[in-house]
Amino acid sequence: MDSDLIKLVNKLQDTFSNLGGELDMPQLVVVGSQSAGKSSVLENIVGRDFLPRGSGIVTRRPLVLQLIHTPVPEPSADGSTSSAPREWGQFLHIDRRFTSFDEIRKEIEQETFRVAGQNKGISKLPISLRIYSPDVLDLTLVDLPGLTKIPVGDQPSDIERQIRNLVQEYVNKPNSVILAVSPANVDLANSESLKLARTVDPQGRRTIGVLTKLDLMDAGTNALDILTGRVYPLKLGFIGVVNRSQQDINTEKAMSDALESEAEFFRSHPAYRNISHKNGTRYLARTLNQVLINHIRDKLPDMKARLNTLMTQAQQELNSFGDAAIYGDKNQQGAVILRMMNQFASDFVASVEGTKMNMT
Ligand code: GDP
Ligand code: NA
Ligand code: MG
Repeated sequence: MDSDLIKLVNKLQDTFSNLGGELDMPQLVVVGSQSAGKSSVLENIVGRDFLPRGSGIVTRRPLVLQLIHTPVPEPSADGSTSSAPREWGQFLHIDRRFTSFDEIRKEIEQETFRVAGQNKGISKLPISLRIYSPDVLDLTLVDLPGLTKIPVGDQPSDIERQIRNLVQEYVNKPNSVILAVSPANVDLANSESLKLARTVDPQGRRTIGVLTKLDLMDAGTNALDILTGRVYPLKLGFIGVVNRSQQDINTEKAMSDALESEAEFFRSHPAYRNISHKNGTRYLARTLNQVLINHIRDKLPDMKARLNTLMTQAQQELNSFGDAAIYGDKNQQGAVILRMMNQFASDFVASVEGTKMNMT
């Protein structure tokens, strides 16, 4: 996530919660058929390796992932480096801090097995994980089981409907931004994610199309028409990505190397060369930043109104102390509050305006 945006949102959230308000951010929900690359996309957005991925049905419970921004730990007074971890994970179901992302992945796997069984069953009971880090925005992301048609293993005969209902619960919320993931090596007309997204967002206002597996398309074919918006209308458009392949996962290819290979794929591909700057994981992350900025912008009138009310209240309170109390403690407190609010109001407007310019 963009560090300017992280700073801005933090500042707004902190100040606003001091004033007794709340800046609610949208949640990002990934939707798509099984093995479309949902978990891979989500992991790339967070920038850490921690999700179970693979062929077949791997994600068998919803994972509600709350990213929580924390300050960088201060060095201790004697100058030695702090022993406090820089970032860590905390599950709802277990009272323990996880500082290793490998262990976080193992815990997700075990917790999936514990509730959803060993054999391909799914459960709608979510796994809740919080990740605390200086490098993230306060944001909720949801990883979901893939949409399937045919039951396998322990799956009940109505598995299709069960998964669909489960996914629908998350995408129904008007505050959800839907990442509709479709693999490029399957005809878009069969895309389960777009079909489902259309039922809850018919105008395509809060759906971002993500086209994965561009590297796996048949020779001589490409997805240029889809990526340029000529096939399926979405206001936020389609973004192509190349995630790590199963081979890359097996050989533990680093995320940074994968991002570099992906950028090279778009730069050197004859069909995508001219649109390479509008594709790839980095561009997807920037687009999400923009969506979040727009969301904050939409909330601005509400926030300003609340601020005005609070300032009027403070002014009235200040007036009610009267001249007699002019040197009293209460009056001084009132003046301090009013000064703080004025400061906040000008910081607030300046920071949002500044970010607007940077982001557009
Ligand atoms: P999910 O089931 O939708 O969550 O999909 P996963 O993220 O678990 O990925 C399923 C499989 O597809 C894994 O083996 C990934 O390595 C592979 N995969 C995902 N995206 C891509 C991609 O863009 N290119 C290639 N070659 N493989 C991918
Ligand atoms: Na999978
Ligand atoms: Mg998955």
